[in-house]
Amino acid sequence: MPGDFTVLIMAAGRGTRMRSPLPKVLHPVCGKPMVEWVIDAAREAGAGEVICITRPGDEVAEGLPESVTVAEQRQGEGTGAAILAAREAGPAEGTVLVLSGDHPLLCAELIGRLVDTHGRERAAATLLTTEELDPAGYGRVMRAADGSVERIVETKYTEGLSAEELAAREVNIGTYAFEASDLWSALDEVGEEREEIYLTGVFPVLRDRGDRVVSNLTTDVSGAMGVNTRADLMEVDRLAARRILDRHARAGVTFLGPDSTRIEAGVTVGADTTVWPGVTLRGATSIGAGCEIGPQTTITDSALGERVKALHSFVCEATVESGASLGPFAYLRPGAHIGEGAKIGTFVEVKNSSVGPGAKVPHLSYLGDADVGANSNIGAGNITANYDGRRKHRTTIGDGVKTGVDTSFVAPVSVGDGAYTGAGSVIGEDVPDGALGVSRSKQVNVEGYAERKEKPPG
Ligand code: UD1
Ligand code: MG
Repeated sequence: MPGDFTVLIMAAGRGTRMRSPLPKVLHPVCGKPMVEWVIDAAREAGAGEVICITRPGDEVAEGLPESVTVAEQRQGEGTGAAILAAREAGPAEGTVLVLSGDHPLLCAELIGRLVDTHGRERAAATLLTTEELDPAGYGRVMRAADGSVERIVETKYTEGLSAEELAAREVNIGTYAFEASDLWSALDEVGEEREEIYLTGVFPVLRDRGDRVVSNLTTDVSGAMGVNTRADLMEVDRLAARRILDRHARAGVTFLGPDSTRIEAGVTVGADTTVWPGVTLRGATSIGAGCEIGPQTTITDSALGERVKALHSFVCEATVESGASLGPFAYLRPGAHIGEGAKIGTFVEVKNSSVGPGAKVPHLSYLGDADVGANSNIGAGNITANYDGRRKHRTTIGDGVKTGVDTSFVAPVSVGDGAYTGAGSVIGEDVPDGALGVSRSKQVNVEGYAERKEKPPG
C-alpha cells in the first residue's frame, strides 16, 4: 500500500462520559491504549506522517511513539477544532486521512479501502459509514433525493431532531479521507453548534460548492465501534480480546478455554503452546513454543522459554528458562530467574532470586534475595530470612546442595557446593563446600513420660 497519505488522529476530546480522570484515548483495550491501536492500524495501512491531536497537559502526547507528530488543540471544542489545531503541522495539499482516537478496532484493511475509494472516485471527501451498529448517539448520514450525502446529524443530544433524522440507521464512523486544500477551506466556513465546531460540518459546505463527497458502507462492526462510555469500552475490549486469541490460534497456539482466557495486545506466544482455561497473559510477556500454561495462571511482564509448564501460578516480572516447571500454586515475583529445567513447586514464592538449571524447590518455600546453584534440591518449607528489619541481604546456595526440610537461612549467609543442611536447622553461619550444616538441639527422650502423666493422682 502506498505511503503517500498523512493521517490526523483526533485524540483531544474531553471524554467526559467515561467518568474518569484518565483521558479517554489512554484507556486501555487489552492492555494497549486506544489511541495506539489507531496509530498501529494507520501505520499498517501504509501511512506516511501520523499527526496526533492532543490537549496540552493531558499527558496523551508523552506516551506516544516518537515517530508520531503531536499537534496541540489549544482552543475550541469539537472535532472541527481538533482538526484546525493540526492545520500548521498537516499538509496543505494531497490526501489527508482523519481518524478518531476512540475507534480502537479500526483495521488497516478498512483504512486501505477508504484510501482506494477516495482516489478512485477523485472525491474531495470520502467517509466510511455503517448500518450494522445501534445508531444511538452516532452522527446519522442524511442523504439527498439522488442518494448523495447531504449532511451528518449528530444524535448525542436528541432534542429538536426530526423523526426522519432519528430513524436514519446509517452512521458516520468518524473515519475520513479529504483533499487537504478542500478540508482547510471548508473548515473555515463551519460555524459553532452547541459551542463546538463539528468536523462533520464540512460536508454541506463542500456539497454547496459542488465538490464531490463520497461515502463507503462497511460491515466491519468492530472497526466501526466508537468508545464514548465504559460500556462501549467493555464491548470493544471483548471483541479485541477475541481477535487477539484468533491471531494466536492461527499462529499455532491451542486454547482450551478461550472464553476465560485473556491475552493482552503486546504478548507473544510460541507455536504449539497450549493455554488452559483461566489464563491471563499481560503486558510485555513472551511465552516460548511448546509450553503448557494454566489452568488458572496469570503472567505479567515476564519471559518464559520453551516447553515451560505453569499450572495455577502467578508470575510477575520474572524470567523462566526452557523446560522449567512452575506450580501448582507458585508465585514468582519481580527479579525471579528460574534456570533451565528447574522446578518451582507448590506454594513456593520466589523474589529477586535466581534458581540454577535443574534445581528443585518443590514445596512450601520462600526464596527472597537468594541465588541457588545448579541441580540443588531445596527441602520442603525452606525460608530465606532476607530482611533484618532495616535492610535486605542475600543468601547464596551453591551447586548440588541438598537442604533439609524446614531450613531457615539467616542472610547474609552462604552454603558451599555439594553441602547439606540438617532438617529444622537455622543457618546463620556459612557452610563450607561438602559440609553438613546443622543447628538444632540434640533430641531428648523422656522415658515413661506418658505413663506418669496419665496415672490418676493419689
Ligand atoms: C463523532 C462524530 C459522529 C460520529 C462519531 C463516530 C463529530 C461532530 N461527530 O461523534 O458523527 O458518528 O464520532 O464515533 O465529529 N476530539 C478531539 N477534540 C475535541 C473533541 C473530540 O480531539 O474537542 C476527538 C476525541 O478524542 C475522539 C474524536 O475526536 O477521539 C471524536 O470525538 P467524540 O467526542 O467522541 O465525538 P462523538 O460524539 O463520538
Ligand atoms: Mg466518539
